[in-house]
Amino acid sequence: MGKKDRERKQRQQEAKARTSSAANPSLTLVPSPTAQSRHVRLARQLTSTGFTFRQVKSASERAAAIFLIQNSIPESGSYQPGPKVALLVALDLTQAVAGVAACELTIWNGGSGLQLTVEHLAVDANRQGQGIGTVLLGMVDQLIPDNTKRAASKLVVLGGCAVSARSFYQKAGFRVLPEHAKLPFPFGGGGGNVVNTNTQYPCWFAKTV
Ligand SMILES: CC(C)(COP(=O)(O)OP(=O)(O)OC[C@H]1O[C@@H](n2cnc3c(N)ncnc32)[C@H](O)[C@@H]1OP(=O)(O)O)[C@@H](O)C(=O)NCCC(=O)NCCS
Repeated sequence: MGKKDRERKQRQQEAKARTSSAANPSLTLVPSPTAQSRHVRLARQLTSTGFTFRQVKSASERAAAIFLIQNSIPESGSYQPGPKVALLVALDLTQAVAGVAACELTIWNGGSGLQLTVEHLAVDANRQGQGIGTVLLGMVDQLIPDNTKRAASKLVVLGGCAVSARSFYQKAGFRVLPEHAKLPFPFGGGGGNVVNTNTQYPCWFAKTV
């Protein structure tokens, strides 16, 4: 298939996804092929310039990641990750932490479904705008062990964002809901569909993996 055919097919798939989403909002959780290829392109660019993306390995990396969150995100100055929170970091050539995603995994109903909640995402102020945040967000599901992922019926990546950051999450392939909207699926697989009451981060962003 030629480049033009591939592009036409991609446009058709995206139009189809948009039509289905209008009929059933929960279907919009699947990221578009455009967002996926953007993620791959940015990840290639960054890794080719010496960046690595992985879970923290040492106490000093962990401390640097927490420090970055505390200093980048308003009202998180005393943030400490809970025991179930995993930290995915972007390390530059010198192994300095340039970005971090702090995520907590919740298992639904005894393991049939998984929810990965992005608690915080922060990129060093001098490194913003290079795709680091997008790449971190696109790979947070790699924090989940493969066998846990294989056994899951569904995996949803979820978080809350500021109104001003909505376009960032949309470009990264997430469906972003209006302020204080209800989730289109039950939070954590049970307990009803939850309204986002957070004043700082009032917009849910979500995607299925
Ligand atoms: C938000 C944040 C994580 C984005 O990380 P980043 O590495 O700078 O983002 P990327 O380089 O991957 O940006 C991708 C796109 O999103 C846009 N974007 C980035 N941050 C944005 C924001 N806060 N609001 C709107 N758009 C944003 C970029 O302009 C870029 O668009 P483009 O490709 O059309 O030029 C980073 O700016 C940050 O740490 N900010 C401070 C902490 C914070 O606000 N965390 C998120 C709370 S909701």
